[in-house]
Amino acid sequence: MEANPPKRKETRKSLRIKVISMGNAEVGKSCIIKRYCEKRFVPKYLATIGIDYGVTKVQVRDREIKVNIFDMAGHPFFYEVRNEFYKDTQGVILVYDVGQKESFDALDVWLAEMKQELGPHGNMENIVFVVCANKIDCTKHRSVDESEGRLWAESRGFLYFETSAQTGEGINEMFQTFYSAIIDLCDNGGKRPPSSVGVSFTKEQADAIRRIRNSKDSWDMLGVKPGATRDEVNKAYRKLAVLLHPDKCVAPGSEDAFKAVVNARTALLKNIK
Ligand code: GTP
Ligand code: MG
Repeated sequence: MEANPPKRKETRKSLRIKVISMGNAEVGKSCIIKRYCEKRFVPKYLATIGIDYGVTKVQVRDREIKVNIFDMAGHPFFYEVRNEFYKDTQGVILVYDVGQKESFDALDVWLAEMKQELGPHGNMENIVFVVCANKIDCTKHRSVDESEGRLWAESRGFLYFETSAQTGEGINEMFQTFYSAIIDLCDNGGKRPPSSVGVSFTKEQADAIRRIRNSKDSWDMLGVKPGATRDEVNKAYRKLAVLLHPDKCVAPGSEDAFKAVVNARTALLKNIK
């Protein structure tokens, strides 16, 4: 006999979800959606005016879901139009252009705008976020590398995909994983399931990788004052090496950060008596 037949039947019911897109103007939000829904790419830039709304039915795993997509304009001018659309959202597609560092730096501003509009009782924890590092076909102009984007996303418990609306790379995979995570969320009573919440590295590791990446010289990289002694350099090095050793640390970019720290130590010790 089946354990819980009525419940199983219920979980197969079709779902209705609301998804919004966020990110600076011209990063490719509308093109990503168009690529998935209409299987085409429009090279000419047609700025979204306020909001574009569409409904689409998709099949994910054994479920049919009805997706209401609100594609938002990225231009600051449309803030007043956008702000009322943040509520009752199950999924957010957060997009930046890998060739435009400002659009990556702006992701925090977008999260802050959403948080502000949801108000003190809004809960961003129970929304599925997917970060799209878009325009990866433009390899010549890339200014945000994969590990930097992935670290930003994964340290917040967000999904991360490298995409190109132009070639279609990563788009289907991104949407399938995104919708699948939203189904899990809905099946879990609207809360993020425990399995998807866990981040496999610590904030200290993520902060150290970011600090190393942005450091201006070897002293700064090890976090010691210029003129520090051999002992101080070695102590700082050991602490970072333990924190970021690739055998222990799975945070994106840890391998490069570890190598940079080794090189910084070697360079500094050469000049310290
Ligand atoms: P707003 O609606 O103003 O917020 O912009 P948006 O983020 O919706 O950007 P949109 O999708 O309109 O694309 C902006 C420009 O980037 C267009 O000229 C697109 O053709 C181009 N574009 C979008 N995605 C890609 C991509 O993956 N690769 C390349 N090379 N160009 C892209
Ligand atoms: Mg648009």
